[in-house]
Amino acid sequence: MERRLYSGRDLKRAHSIDDLRAMARKRLPNFCFEYVEGGAEDEATLRRNRDVFGEIAFLPRTLVNVERRNQSVTLFGERSAAPFMIGPTGYSGLMFREGDVKLASAAAAAGIPFVLSNVSTVALEEVVRRGGGRVWMQVYMYRTRESLAKLAQRAKAAGIEALVVTTDSAVFGKREWDLRNYIEPLKLDWRNKFDVLRHPRWMANVLWPSGMPRFANLGDLLPPGQDSVKGATITLGQQLDPSLSWDDIRWLRDLWPNRLIVKGVLGAPDALKALEAGVDGIVLSNHGGRQLDSAVSAMDVLPEVVEQVGGRLCVMLDGGFRRGSEILKAVALGADAVLLGRATTYGLSAGGQPGAERAIEILKSEIDRALGLLGCSDIAGLDRSFLRWLRHDVPPSRARTEPQTHMQTGRALAAALPA
Ligand SMILES: Cc1cc2nc3c(=O)[nH]c(=O)nc-3n(C[C@H](O)[C@H](O)[C@H](O)COP(=O)(O)O)c2cc1C
Repeated sequence: MERRLYSGRDLKRAHSIDDLRAMARKRLPNFCFEYVEGGAEDEATLRRNRDVFGEIAFLPRTLVNVERRNQSVTLFGERSAAPFMIGPTGYSGLMFREGDVKLASAAAAAGIPFVLSNVSTVALEEVVRRGGGRVWMQVYMYRTRESLAKLAQRAKAAGIEALVVTTDSAVFGKREWDLRNYIEPLKLDWRNKFDVLRHPRWMANVLWPSGMPRFANLGDLLPPGQDSVKGATITLGQQLDPSLSWDDIRWLRDLWPNRLIVKGVLGAPDALKALEAGVDGIVLSNHGGRQLDSAVSAMDVLPEVVEQVGGRLCVMLDGGFRRGSEILKAVALGADAVLLGRATTYGLSAGGQPGAERAIEILKSEIDRALGLLGCSDIAGLDRSFLRWLRHDVPPSRARTEPQTHMQTGRALAAALPA
């Protein structure tokens, strides 16, 4: 019989993030799934984000007592139950009614932080109140800086622990597979309109009774009545500020008293600038392959960034994480934590809050199992000596098909990864 991922409705039968993805694909209309799934242009970065994990292999220890295993980490002085959190994904309300609250609640139940997107469909105060747990908030920097200042005030009053400024979106990336679903901006073609009708479960959950969800967190940035997708897209397009610089981060540093994190750094020079600007942490990120195509993966630059700023800044990263073992590879290279984008969005899309909880549960159990199999009882003891970086010199596509050369090159290049 052909091997098939599970794509039914029983969350217990999802054994991997890929199963949740298959379930999400079935529940969502094509245009929603594509919004989540796609990357920019040729999607080379999107692929790189996944391929890089195949280039790093584990070197397990044997005969180590792993009866008790710990995967909790400390982030900004507080314990987090796992070395990952839910990262910001905009417009989650399109995947599931009040998606932002469901994600926040799933994170709180699991004891990990949740990063609310700037372009959410539930107001930040409500997400904090109903979601509970540690809530961080992602912001873009718009031309109208006063709007951001006001948003920061609201965030502070609501008890947001950290602001995460996304800096990789000075201009919009071009997601062509997304665009192909429309005959003009925000107007679906006939094929997709019919496809929506074939998803009554999603329609009843998301569209009923008020139609497409509206943006709830952009404050006075949007003119009155312009909080629809169309209104917001036009305004936000005009508001994205290509003149953004490190001075703006310093400006925000002065007015925001809590933790400040820059998301969108891809290399040691910018990590050092972030340190100089006085931020508390960085997220190495290429926005899930949705912005600059052909950019490196965050994993590619993690070792050099940790070498330069590790211990002085909280170093987090995202992009392509779908397995607990992949999160452990990042931690072994010195990351403080990983942010999830699509992994938990698949869970949310497959089954709301229980779906997001299932995604977290799967990843936690994979981490726990991998720690046991690695012979490492505490994640704090995980370091580069548990890894071997395979074949830096060969393109990832060939690496997949030639396992023998793979190992030989890996041996020859073992020195590429200092212990
Ligand atoms: C559907 C979707 C919406 C996103 N929205 C935002 C956003 O509003 N703000 C932001 O900083 N990043 C956003 N991102 C990027 C994620 O925060 C993250 O960088 C990326 O998804 C990580 O890659 P992964 O999806 O492979 O885990 C979005 C990503 C996706 C898939």
